[in-house]
Amino acid sequence: MKFGILTSGGDCAGLNAVIRAIGLYLLRNVKNAELVGIPDGYGGLIRGESFPLKKEDIEDILPLGGTVLGTSRQPFKKMTVSEEGGTRLSRMVANYKKMGLDCLFTLGGAGTHKTAALLSMEGCNVIGVPKTIDNDIYGTDVTFGFRTAVEVVTDAIDRISTTAASHGRVMLVEVMGNKAGWLTLHAGIAAGAHVILIPEIPFSLDAVCGAVSARLAAGEKTTMIAVAEGALLASEAKFKKDERVFVRTALGESTVTRHLAEVIGERTGAETRYSVLGYLQRGGTPCAYDRLLCSRLGGYAAKLAAEGRFGVTAAVSGGDITFNALSDIAGKYKFVDPAGGDVQFARGIGVCFGE
Ligand code: F6P
Repeated sequence: MKFGILTSGGDCAGLNAVIRAIGLYLLRNVKNAELVGIPDGYGGLIRGESFPLKKEDIEDILPLGGTVLGTSRQPFKKMTVSEEGGTRLSRMVANYKKMGLDCLFTLGGAGTHKTAALLSMEGCNVIGVPKTIDNDIYGTDVTFGFRTAVEVVTDAIDRISTTAASHGRVMLVEVMGNKAGWLTLHAGIAAGAHVILIPEIPFSLDAVCGAVSARLAAGEKTTMIAVAEGALLASEAKFKKDERVFVRTALGESTVTRHLAEVIGERTGAETRYSVLGYLQRGGTPCAYDRLLCSRLGGYAAKLAAEGRFGVTAAVSGGDITFNALSDIAGKYKFVDPAGGDVQFARGIGVCFGE
């Protein structure tokens, strides 16, 4: 049997660990298994490119950051648009057949899973593995890469907290997460942030400045504020995403963090600074939890392939590894529940969500 693997969308720690686990399982357990890597995510499949993956290519890559296959973003909405040579979808299906694949593993986030579901509907044997630092894939308790990013962001906030304390400053730390605030919420709680702002809970400037002023009045000069890049003002919540982006672009802002730092400074008199953590959240070696999770998810996905179970994606449910049908999860997201346990707990210990 011939198996293809691709990694698609924004990278994260653990992609190589999953590639390794899939490959080692198949090479060991499936007779005459042949493994190929497809470069640059769906981009490579659209172009019809692949290269052989041997045991020696994958056995030592477990701790490596990034992806040895390369990745790219291929917008879902462009998949079915007619172009020269057919739609991207039709080219991928044709190349899947031309390569002689019996199964394609797609390691990716919500967008990757949407395209994987399309490929599956077109008759390709696809198995997904849920990746993203955003942890926003529907149907799985956790995605690989998330825990590593939580560690990185927690460490960053810890470090910024010590300089904030030295200077008696209000510090804003911008964390990745455009649609979902899981990373900001978990790292914010883990690092003891005083204010946590996430897309699921639109915030008011009055509430955030009020929290900072209250701390100043209590003699606490330092306030740590964790801001998800997709956090939005309650006044922006009524706009659609495109309209919000348009207004922010006109103001020269892509996120709300710098604006918020300025307003806090003006209104409270506190000295404010902000840091945008950016891509360091996606790079580097996976933490031990992710290495274990990636090995389990990869091995499980490979076992599904060996059993001929396709059109699915591996998932974590209550500590067990399981799977969901791609058709059940494609196009859906998992958001932080503002009334859920994590938020309630944080509120209970005094964290302000800007409401
Ligand atoms: O992959 C998820 C993510 O890291 C988001 O948190 C972030 O908004 C986005 O990717 C950044 O994407 P890009 O790599 O295209 O700049």
